[in-house]
Amino acid sequence: MATLAFDVYGTLIDTDGVVDRLREWIGSQAETFSQTWRSKQLEYSFRRGLMRRYENFAACTRHALDYCCAEYEVSFSAGQKDALLQSYRALPAFGDVEESLVGLKAEGHRLFAFSNGSSEAVEEVLQTNGLREWFEGVVSCDALKTFKPNPDVYHYFMREAGDSNDAWLISGNPFDVIGAVSAGMKSAWVKRSNRAVFDPWEIEPSVTVESLNELYEKVESR
Ligand code: 2OP
Repeated sequence: MATLAFDVYGTLIDTDGVVDRLREWIGSQAETFSQTWRSKQLEYSFRRGLMRRYENFAACTRHALDYCCAEYEVSFSAGQKDALLQSYRALPAFGDVEESLVGLKAEGHRLFAFSNGSSEAVEEVLQTNGLREWFEGVVSCDALKTFKPNPDVYHYFMREAGDSNDAWLISGNPFDVIGAVSAGMKSAWVKRSNRAVFDPWEIEPSVTVESLNELYEKVESR
């Protein structure tokens, strides 16, 4: 049986879940605003990791929101920004998540949530979506005061889970998959959109799935 580390944002949880609220306020700019918000959030985590100027993932999210307001020339009130950040804490899960977690757990796999997000934020978003009970634990990069894809965080996961032989990262984020494989884990890339492109480096995912429901047979066959 395998140890499965599920990335949270972009894999279990849909970061575009803020689009409906954004659409009420900024109309047709909502989709691109949401995408820029997410990519800036990640960029800020990468840069903070490299610069060793750690602030937690929620701070990266907040600063990225401020950046987007400036780039898109949107002036949200403090209350609107708080409401957006609050929705981030309660983002929805993708539709395939619960069923696949139930099935994988029933097969005897060990399931963990493994995220850049703080333990508190991850616990909250999993509870909100009724998913917490399927996980043996939540492992947060916050414990190391750095972010994915620093190899230390994947090694930390394997130590925390007590498994370095059959530990898998399951992620919709190519940078995360590459980071995990580079650090010695197996990894499944969840290609959540037809248009998603995997970075053309020298490192490939161990398997690629289009839905978490395909994971069971792929993980078993490796
Ligand atoms: C996560 O760690 C990378 O956002 C992603 O949950």
